[in-house]
Amino acid sequence: MSYEGKTKIVEDAGEGLVLIHFKDDITAGDGEKHDVMEQKGAMCAEITARVMGWLNKKGVPTHFIEFIPPRTLKAKKLKMFPLEVVVRYKKAGSFIRRYGGKEGEELSFPLVEFFIKDDERHDPMVCTDHIVLMDIATREQVERMAELAADIAMKLKEYFEMAGYDLWDMKFEFGVDENGEIVLGDEISPDTLRLRKSGEIFDKDVYRKDLGDPMEKYREVLKACRSISS
Ligand code: TMP
Ligand code: ASP
Repeated sequence: MSYEGKTKIVEDAGEGLVLIHFKDDITAGDGEKHDVMEQKGAMCAEITARVMGWLNKKGVPTHFIEFIPPRTLKAKKLKMFPLEVVVRYKKAGSFIRRYGGKEGEELSFPLVEFFIKDDERHDPMVCTDHIVLMDIATREQVERMAELAADIAMKLKEYFEMAGYDLWDMKFEFGVDENGEIVLGDEISPDTLRLRKSGEIFDKDVYRKDLGDPMEKYREVLKACRSISS
């Protein structure tokens, strides 16, 4: 049994495990913009493996078990919440579209936001009551996801600072494991982070805004992750 999303194929490997194959597809605007870029899947898979491997060592519960080159992760099977949990340190993207302000302006504390994964409705933003009301998660699970997201964000900020990158914002997806614990799933890559260095963009905004070859930037981020992990 397998499930194919916009950028990944998740294959049930039995014994509570899945194989996640990263595709070379890149999308924006909830799939309205779509391209295929060589090496993209392999780069995002390895970046996710290195970052989640580091998080595992720091005591963060993630689904990541093993990187199977070139583009596959072996991971713990989770029952995923259909949610995107965003943590922001600086204003950008949909924050500015919704509330105004200037790109890169510091927020006075890390902001945690929840969105329902639903391309047709353009991932509507929701609060705890929406999530509980729609039986997506319990209040306690929402609180735990917010707490984990803020903690992981802090650790990732530290991780990317080691390579001189400033982490502006990021998106997480969580699921529940066989023990009922909430675990970080999905991926962590330039698709799901905003990473900046001396005004230069090292994330999917290069693609979203047509600013050149995004894969050059993804390659730089992968090099940085290799240098941190080794
Ligand atoms: P946003 O400003 O567009 O809401 O994005 C916030 C962060 O979440 C940014 O790092 C990009 C990431 N993100 C995803 O990973 N998937 C998505 O579908 C969206 C909209 C954003
Ligand atoms: N991930 C979304 C898409 O694939 C939107 C985005 O990342 O900008 O369309």
